[in-house]
Amino acid sequence: FTEGAALDASKLQITNNPKPSCPLPNDQLVFGQTFTDHMLTIEWNKGKGWSAPEIKPYGPLVLDPSACVFHYAFELFEGLKAYRTPDNKITMFRPDMNMIRMNKSAARICLPTFDTDQLITLIGKLIEQDKSLVPQGQGYSLYIRPTMIGTTNGLGVSTPDKALLFVICSPVGPYYKTGFKAVRLEATDYATRAWPGGVGDKKLGANYAPCILPQLDAASRGYQQNLWLFGPEKNITEVGTMNVFFAFRDSKTGKKELVTAPLDGTILEGVTRDSVLALTRQNLDPKEWEVNERYYTITEVQERAEKGELLEAFGSGTAAVVSPIKEIGWNGTDINVPLLPGEQSGPLTKQVAQWIADIQYGRVKHGNWSRVVA
Ligand code: COI
Repeated sequence: FTEGAALDASKLQITNNPKPSCPLPNDQLVFGQTFTDHMLTIEWNKGKGWSAPEIKPYGPLVLDPSACVFHYAFELFEGLKAYRTPDNKITMFRPDMNMIRMNKSAARICLPTFDTDQLITLIGKLIEQDKSLVPQGQGYSLYIRPTMIGTTNGLGVSTPDKALLFVICSPVGPYYKTGFKAVRLEATDYATRAWPGGVGDKKLGANYAPCILPQLDAASRGYQQNLWLFGPEKNITEVGTMNVFFAFRDSKTGKKELVTAPLDGTILEGVTRDSVLALTRQNLDPKEWEVNERYYTITEVQERAEKGELLEAFGSGTAAVVSPIKEIGWNGTDINVPLLPGEQSGPLTKQVAQWIADIQYGRVKHGNWSRVVA
């Protein structure tokens, strides 16, 4: 998929929106409901390669009803964020990781790959256009949604020979409607999100639609999301909109452990997940803590909660950032996760959220994780 012209940011054409919009106040930002004034579009054609990128006013796409995206789900996306720093610069958090994952998703469904640095440059130009719409304040940011679809017309099931890469941006606050509050999850084993040899580790739209029905079921019992289990062992995998972490304390040795499921092809390779692992491995005292990627089951969580060994649980994701978990419904009962008295998270969750926010909002430097774009 790489023959023809490479993606080239220097060929960018910009058409400005004649009517720039005013920023909404933070308390009116609903996740993914309002968009900035511009979008980036880049077409790809087999043999010709990538066309000149365009930034133009945000607006509808015109596609033939037979386009393969509508019939065979040739669609993949990414989610990353831009932040306003105290000195009014706009930064993106680890965009290289998202671009690498986007290429992996594209390669898996026979859509074209691209030069990751070129797309980062172009997303930077897009943000520059709408810089005034990047919100200010911890917990608020610009959510960036790069997307790629197959646009070949016709109902034959085959490799797309045309594709469209587009990027839209939404000023956002907290992902969950409950705001910055601890969430309730329901452990789900009657449906499966992903399986070995499948595509659960790729960011394909097709992974999300089938999860809505079980989510509605969980919501009818008061839970925000499903905690997906896998296999006869009932391994804890992830939430679908976020990876998950559990913290335990061994009551015999006193040693603490932070655990998340390993990347075995069924788990989304979360950028926030990777950041949590890196920061906890770097900052937690190894005499006190172990940080492990290993299989663990809902039974282990339940038994250890009963023994008082469950310390904390939280989800991690670009949209969800670090979201504390307060209860997990399983087998008709709720496993309670301790929180700090009068607060919405445990101490480690709070600390991890702070470490990440400090880097994202440019208060602390961490290698090249935070990239100034505008
Ligand atoms: C993200 O965290 O960026 C996601 O893609 C999760 C969700 C909003 C689909």
